[in-house]
Amino acid sequence: MQPPKTKHLISWKDWTDHEVLDLLQFAIHVKHHRANYLGHMTGRTLAMLFQKTSTRTRVSFEVAMTEMGGHAIYLDWMTSNFLLSDIDLEAEYLSRNVSVIMARMRKHEDLLQLKEGSQVPVINGCCNMFHPCQSLADILTIALDNSRPLSDLQMTYIGVHNNVVNSLIGITSALGMRLTLVTPIADPENIDTPTVEQAKKKGTLFWETDLIQAVRKADYIYTDTWVDMEFFNDPNFADKKKARMELMMPYQINEALLKETNAKVMHDMPIHSGYEITREVVRSPRSIIFQQAENRLDAQKAVILQLLEA
Ligand code: CP
Repeated sequence: MQPPKTKHLISWKDWTDHEVLDLLQFAIHVKHHRANYLGHMTGRTLAMLFQKTSTRTRVSFEVAMTEMGGHAIYLDWMTSNFLLSDIDLEAEYLSRNVSVIMARMRKHEDLLQLKEGSQVPVINGCCNMFHPCQSLADILTIALDNSRPLSDLQMTYIGVHNNVVNSLIGITSALGMRLTLVTPIADPENIDTPTVEQAKKKGTLFWETDLIQAVRKADYIYTDTWVDMEFFNDPNFADKKKARMELMMPYQINEALLKETNAKVMHDMPIHSGYEITREVVRSPRSIIFQQAENRLDAQKAVILQLLEA
């Protein structure tokens, strides 16, 4: 008999619609029954490999393992020997000592190489193309916020087409939720075409150039940084950053825009107040941004449990 194939979470493309729905429902269950999962990871270790900075992804995965009775090891790329060797070889070693790996890699191709070497599940903690764990927490937040079926709801994303958008397209398409993009900057290298084509086929993905129209029909409006975190404070990126800020400023989520809609406001954090969103909106009653961030914990638990106990 063939050994069961190791399941990973690299992007939603590798998951069937049924599996995505099952994972979301499980995340809701985990959120409501946190105490049930206290000992489920006893004796198990998660390796967390980071090429880039993080607050939420690191904390939520580590706390998830702690609360479930397991352990998490933080591995900084720069002080590990991933820096010196082939990624798949280091990954194979790692997978012989830990039960699951979460990695935040700059390049999607490097994450795939890590997955190839690993004998245990690999979770994408955000690469240049996808951020599936974030999008699971986002939809979990909406499902907890709203009793209407997801297929009745409309999310409008306002900002730059990035890795978060690719994962939002993937998860909303799997769950039958409508997503409208207002993305004045959409560089082809940041768009995952198979994910977009799949969503178009399902009829869940739309584009809108009129910002006011887009927010009026939305139940949730979502934004993210206009400049990749990696480059935000990079002097070499200063000119591109300035040009982007000028182009994107009319798309800021601010109190004037909120007057046009009853939608709730989402952001995956970290926030650059005064750019893509104002502090007033972040702190307004319409914001569910901190619920989103908090729900990363329950979403990560569901992913770990599903991958290890499937
Ligand atoms: N949203 C998110 O992934 O946050 P961090 O970059 O802080 O992990």
